[in-house]
Amino acid sequence: MCGIVGYVGQRQALPLLVEGLKRLEYRGYDSAGVAMMEQNRLSITKSAGRISVLEQQLDVDGSTATTGIAHTRWATHGAPTEINAHPHGDASHRIALVHNGIIENYTALKKYLQQKEVPFVSDTDTEVLAQLIGHLYRGNLEEAVREALRDVHGTFGIAVVCADEPGTIVAARRGSPLLIGVGQDEYLVASDASAILAHTSQVVYLSDNEMAVISADSLHTTTLDAVPVTKEIQEVEWTLDQIELAGHTHFMEKEIFEQPEALRNCMRGRVDLAEGKVHLGGFADVARELTRARRFIMTACGTAWHAGLVGEYLLEDLGRIPTEVEYASEFRYRNPVIEYGTVTVAISQSGETADTLAALGEARQRGALALGVVNVVGSSIARETDAGIYLHVGPEIGVASTKAFTGQVAVLAMIAAFVGRRKHLSQSATQEFLEALSQIPDRMEKALENNAKAKAIAEAYADRDNWLYLGRGYQYPVALEGALKLKEISYIHAEGLPAAEMKHGPIALISDGMPVVVIATQGLQYNKIISNIEEVRARGGRVIAIATEGDSQIANLASDVLYVPDTLEPLQPMLTVIPLQLIAYHAAIARGCNVDKPRNLAKSVTVE
Ligand code: G6P
Repeated sequence: MCGIVGYVGQRQALPLLVEGLKRLEYRGYDSAGVAMMEQNRLSITKSAGRISVLEQQLDVDGSTATTGIAHTRWATHGAPTEINAHPHGDASHRIALVHNGIIENYTALKKYLQQKEVPFVSDTDTEVLAQLIGHLYRGNLEEAVREALRDVHGTFGIAVVCADEPGTIVAARRGSPLLIGVGQDEYLVASDASAILAHTSQVVYLSDNEMAVISADSLHTTTLDAVPVTKEIQEVEWTLDQIELAGHTHFMEKEIFEQPEALRNCMRGRVDLAEGKVHLGGFADVARELTRARRFIMTACGTAWHAGLVGEYLLEDLGRIPTEVEYASEFRYRNPVIEYGTVTVAISQSGETADTLAALGEARQRGALALGVVNVVGSSIARETDAGIYLHVGPEIGVASTKAFTGQVAVLAMIAAFVGRRKHLSQSATQEFLEALSQIPDRMEKALENNAKAKAIAEAYADRDNWLYLGRGYQYPVALEGALKLKEISYIHAEGLPAAEMKHGPIALISDGMPVVVIATQGLQYNKIISNIEEVRARGGRVIAIATEGDSQIANLASDVLYVPDTLEPLQPMLTVIPLQLIAYHAAIARGCNVDKPRNLAKSVTVE
C-alpha cells in the first residue's frame, strides 16, 4: 500500500526521507519518489522498483534541501512505472504532491483541465489532483489545496509542496491515514508512524476532512472548510515491529482483520446503489462483448480457483451464462474447446502465477476474450489481458491468501451483476443485490467478532490430524477454501467436499472425535445440510457449524457453532470464510507453525 513521508525543518531532509521510505517498505510498493526544495527550485526524482534504485539516482548526502516529500507507490491507476510514480507535479513545475487513496472523479476533473489545456504526462488519478492544485494556485498553497479538495470525490491522504513557498508543506486527509510528527524546530508528515518514529514519538493524528500546514516552527490545523481545529499531541507507544503489523502478531492475522476495509476499497466508486448499476471502468471497451458472451471460463490456481468456483455460481445465477472453472495447470495442456463467444477470466492475486498466465495465453490464442481479476497492478497477467478489474484490496503479504479471496469474490459478484443487468436482471433486483453487497464490509466486522471462539475451537482440536469441511451450493467452494487454509499453515490434513459427496466415500473416514466443519447457513439447501450434520454425528464426528445468526436449532446438533450475519445466499461466502480463516490461523499457532511463511509454500508461484 502507498506510503507518505515529508519533512520541514533545519536538517538535511533527503537522508531522513530516504530512511522514512525504507521504513515504509514493509507495506509493499512497486515504485518510489521524492520531491525536494533545492534552493527554491523543485526537484522531483522517481523510479520504478526498489528504493535502492531510487537512492542510486539521488545525491543523498549532498542535498542541502530542508523541505521535501516522498512516497512509496502501490499502483492502482496506471502501471508501476517511473512516470506514474509519485510525487506528481503540475504543468508550471511549481507544485509537487504525494497521495494515498483514490480520486474517484478523476476522469471528469481531467477532462475539465484538458479543456483548459493543462497537459498530462501520467495515467494516474493523482496527477489530476496535482494539476488541479497548480491550476488553482494564486500565491497561497493552503488556499489552492483547499479549493481543489472541494471538487474531489474519493479518498486521500496528501502532502503538497510549492516552489514559491519553500519552507511549507500542506497536508490533508479524508479516508486515508495521515499524521504530523512534532520535533524540535521541525515537523514531519507521514501516513504511518513507522516512517518517522526514529525522529519523534510525538504526533498529531489528523482526522478525516482536516488539513495541516507545517513549517519549521509552526503547525496550523483546520478543517477542509477552514475552521481552525486544536489538536492534541499524542505519544506513539508502539515499537516499529508493532506498527508494521498494526498491533497484530502476524500479517495473516492483520490481513484477515483488514477485510472489511479492503472490501470497501474494492467496491469504492463501482457500486452505484441509486442507479442499481455497477461501474467497471476496466470493462468499458468490452461491455458489448460481455453482454453477447456465450460462455465464461474462469481459470486460476489455489485460493483464486476457489473464488472462481464462487464466480461460476454467481455468473450462472445472475448472468444466466454457462460458466466453467478450470485449474489453470490442467486447462493449458488439455486442448480446450474455445467456441465463438467464449470469455476467459484469469483470477490471480499476484498476477504472476505461471500456470494462470499460460492458461490465459492459450485461451487468447484460440480466440477467447481474455479478462483479468488481479490484485497487483501492472503484473504480467494484468498486462496480457484484453480488459480487467483490479481488486484494490492492498498488498497481501501472508502466504495464505485471505483478503484476496474475499476481494476476488466481491469483484466476481460485481461482474455477475454487471453482466446480469445488461441481460435480464431488473433494476430493482440489481439494486437489492448491490445493497446487500455494499453491506458486506459491516457484516464482516460482525463475523470477525468470532475470533475468541474460533481460537478456543482451534485449540481444542489442534491435535487432530484429519479434518473434513462440508458445504453445499455457494458454501461448497468455502469448504474447499477452509480446508486449504488449514492445510497450508497448520499442516493438518484436511479435505473439503460438497456435503452430498461425503456418502460416496469420505464418510468412511469419520471416526470418533474427528472435527467436521459444516457450513450450514440459511439458504436453499439448509435442510439437506442439517441431514449431513446428523450423518456426521451418528458416526461420532465432532461438528463445528458455521451458521446464520438467529438459528436456534443448530446449537442442539453441533458441538460448536460460529455465527455469521445473514445476507443473500450468493454473498454468504465472503462472511462464512472468515471463521474458517480464523480457525486455521489459531490452529497453526497452537501447533507452533510459522503462520506467515509456511514450509514448502511460496506466495507467488512463477514456475510450473
Ligand atoms: C500460491 C499461493 C496461494 C495462491 C496461489 C495462486 O500457491 O500460496 O495462496 O492462492 O498461489 O496465486 P495467485 O497469485 O495467482 O492468486
